[in-house]
Amino acid sequence: MLSKLIKFLLTLATAIQSGKIYPENHPIYSESVKEAFISLQIILQDEKELVLGIVDKELAWKDEILFDLSRKLKSFIIYLESRDIERMCFYYGLSQKELSKFIYFFSTPKKQIQKNIQEYLAQHEIRHISAGKILVLSDEKHRKDKKPDNLLNQYETSMDSLTKSVKKMLNSEEVDYLDLRFNILAVMENFMGNYNELLNLISIKKKDLTTFIHLLNVSVLSMFFSSKLGFSKEDVIDIGTGALFHDIGKISISQKIITKTSKLDESEFDKMRSHPVHGAKILLKYKEDMGILPAVVTYEHHLRYDLKGYPKMVYPVKPHIASLIVSICDIYDALSQRRTYKKDYPPNKIYEIMNKGKGTLFDPVLLDNFFKIIGVWPIGSIVSLNDDRIAVVRSSNEKDIFSPKVEIISPEQKGETINLATCDKNITASLNPFVEGKKYLDLV
Ligand SMILES: [Fe+2]
Ligand SMILES: [Fe+2]
Repeated sequence: MLSKLIKFLLTLATAIQSGKIYPENHPIYSESVKEAFISLQIILQDEKELVLGIVDKELAWKDEILFDLSRKLKSFIIYLESRDIERMCFYYGLSQKELSKFIYFFSTPKKQIQKNIQEYLAQHEIRHISAGKILVLSDEKHRKDKKPDNLLNQYETSMDSLTKSVKKMLNSEEVDYLDLRFNILAVMENFMGNYNELLNLISIKKKDLTTFIHLLNVSVLSMFFSSKLGFSKEDVIDIGTGALFHDIGKISISQKIITKTSKLDESEFDKMRSHPVHGAKILLKYKEDMGILPAVVTYEHHLRYDLKGYPKMVYPVKPHIASLIVSICDIYDALSQRRTYKKDYPPNKIYEIMNKGKGTLFDPVLLDNFFKIIGVWPIGSIVSLNDDRIAVVRSSNEKDIFSPKVEIISPEQKGETINLATCDKNITASLNPFVEGKKYLDLV
């Protein structure tokens, strides 16, 4: 029975995932629902009903807690919890149509559905499934306390799992592509748009994981940027996957060179310049599952818009747009990360530096759009104004990238929001959240 249950849960997770990528009437989605339906039918024929519970991030079936299975499906379980699911019951007589509608609930973002699962089940006349929370007294308070934790937890789980995939690739081991894509999706849904908050949160908590954090940051930022540019969801995930591995080739270079702070000599430079080729070679082994784009992005991310970068090619061709997107996000993140060290690059300085590379390092149209979307002063930055007050950036202004909307946090009129584009006030400086801005962090 356990192997049947595993089969069903894996096909269920795949179907939810494919519903996130494809519309409900797409044959790939229908096919994955069919597979989940068949594996569920096999269980229901014997058992008449299947009742599953989630207790403290562990899956429970009958009186048993399935620890091993829970570990394997950790990100899936946390995802179900985030959709307020603590129990699911499937009854004999269930139709494929009912299961398809049920799965689509999980594939659709919470905001879009605006219904809880019970209302949704009733609306779609799904009679052979029930799902929801396990009610416990004083449950509501308990849940409220747990919320932010859940987000961080989900992030950490995704990060854990992504690290594992990267490590496996380095050892040429098989990668669970379903899990990888599920986690990239989780990162995309939870953190896109919170780029700056994420950057601050992670750089404070996980200083030891700098390279990996860089990969993840570039991935989130590339997904955010490309989705704002209007790419389809599928393309956005592909670009995010490419970004996630863009520096994977660095792992084959000795740590001595990577961490060297003084100037590299010519042979060390050559080794460093080989990381796109090494990375592409690693990723080509996975092209059946992941497609060719991650390898292309990895190979081209230092090529530059004017093709004067590396690797040197005999017949240079214009880099793929995904590579051009990732290279902007790559440099932006590398410069932003410096804020955590001694050398401080405030956002306006980053803008200045990157603008110098417009038309040479970077595609000029993409670069302009990039700053239009994220603004010169990213959301969440702590800034000082020309009237000596301290504010936090709340939203960017596409028409005037230097003048976002800000909320005053000190010294008075706390909570007042000002649109800098329509008044005579402006930003004079950004306060480094690790140094002079630190005392305001609680107010942000
Ligand atoms: Fe690189
Ligand atoms: Fe990089």
